[in-house]
Amino acid sequence: MSGDTLATERLGTEGPLVGLQGLGCMGISEFYGDTDEAAARETLEVALGLGVTLFDTADVYGNGANEEFLAPFVRAHRDEITLASKFGIVRKPDDPGYRGISNDPAYIRQAVDASLKRLGTDVIDLYYMHRHDPAVPLAESVGAMGELVTAGKVRYLGLSEVTGAELREAHAVHPITALQSEWSLFSRDVERSAVGAAAELGVALVPYSPLGRGFLTGAFQDAASDLAAGDFRQNQPRFNGDNARHNADLLDPVRKAAKAHGATLGQIALAWVHRRADAHGLPVVPIPGTRKAGRVRENTAAASILLDAAELEWLEPIAGQVAGDRYTDMSATSAARE
Ligand SMILES: NC(=O)c1ccc[n+]([C@@H]2O[C@H](COP(=O)([O-])OP(=O)(O)OC[C@H]3O[C@@H](n4cnc5c(N)ncnc54)[C@H](OP(=O)(O)O)[C@@H]3O)[C@@H](O)[C@H]2O)c1
Repeated sequence: MSGDTLATERLGTEGPLVGLQGLGCMGISEFYGDTDEAAARETLEVALGLGVTLFDTADVYGNGANEEFLAPFVRAHRDEITLASKFGIVRKPDDPGYRGISNDPAYIRQAVDASLKRLGTDVIDLYYMHRHDPAVPLAESVGAMGELVTAGKVRYLGLSEVTGAELREAHAVHPITALQSEWSLFSRDVERSAVGAAAELGVALVPYSPLGRGFLTGAFQDAASDLAAGDFRQNQPRFNGDNARHNADLLDPVRKAAKAHGATLGQIALAWVHRRADAHGLPVVPIPGTRKAGRVRENTAAASILLDAAELEWLEPIAGQVAGDRYTDMSATSAARE
């Protein structure tokens, strides 16, 4: 950061220039308990004031509600922000728990129009395939996404939760600007093949859940009692019973580094993600999610914390010791196809 404003980073070799940290907007509409909407709107404005320009949503978040929530902010700041959305996870109105995956070209064409309408804009800057359905060849799905670029509905393409081999295959069909996958002190399976492929191809990494869905902030010493009823994390393996207690103990080195820097645990977790850029030689723009202005200030400040070699060594073993998968059902993740 220079002064109080984030440094910038280019997504991909020819993609947009964005603030070095983005904002994940998912929790505003779903998954992490009740939201104070006025506070969430203030968070968007404060984030932009701090140099956050990449705002991340998806059609599936709140079943369209998250995109609709963002529409006034998008209208007010269209030229100042890089707007990212996603298609590919489908729901059924009569079955709230249902999640399917669709990569069909016809579905993609109708999904982008629906997202544009909800967002109240005529172009999405970065459009991701949220999940890959191996039954649909990437030549077809990414080909259809490329047609959206030609049609001017989308500026750049992204993928989420793909392997290195899939990223290479997609990139040969149409240039991919960013790969959005889970990457944090708790989740490093993306390093198996995707990170190396992205570095080679000039694709940026956009780590999602960089705070381990909040766990890395130290907020969950006893996850069972710390989560409100209906919070989606109640069913996440890492937040459950013995796993949560074991995982909370893994935070000791994070606490030690936080003390050394006069920082919070969450800031150390984010600083570690930012340092992945040097470690792997590619642009890395994490998108921590928060609905609180104070937390967005705290999170952006983490981009200027430099962890030294000894501190990185303390943090290195954590991911290998985490108890519980990152999803209850891992079948749609890249890890399942490695
Ligand atoms: N591509 C995908 O499949 C995928 C999957 C998941 C998420 N995402 C994207 O990635 C974004 C970020 O991931 P995420 O929201 O799942 O997880 P995250 O960023 O790791 O953590 C978010 C959680 O941490 C809390 N938090 C944030 N800053 C904090 C701070 N400084 N101190 C204490 N608590 C803090 C938030 O609560 P408050 O809101 O109350 O601050 C929220 O509960 C999402 O918003 C979404 O846009 C993408």
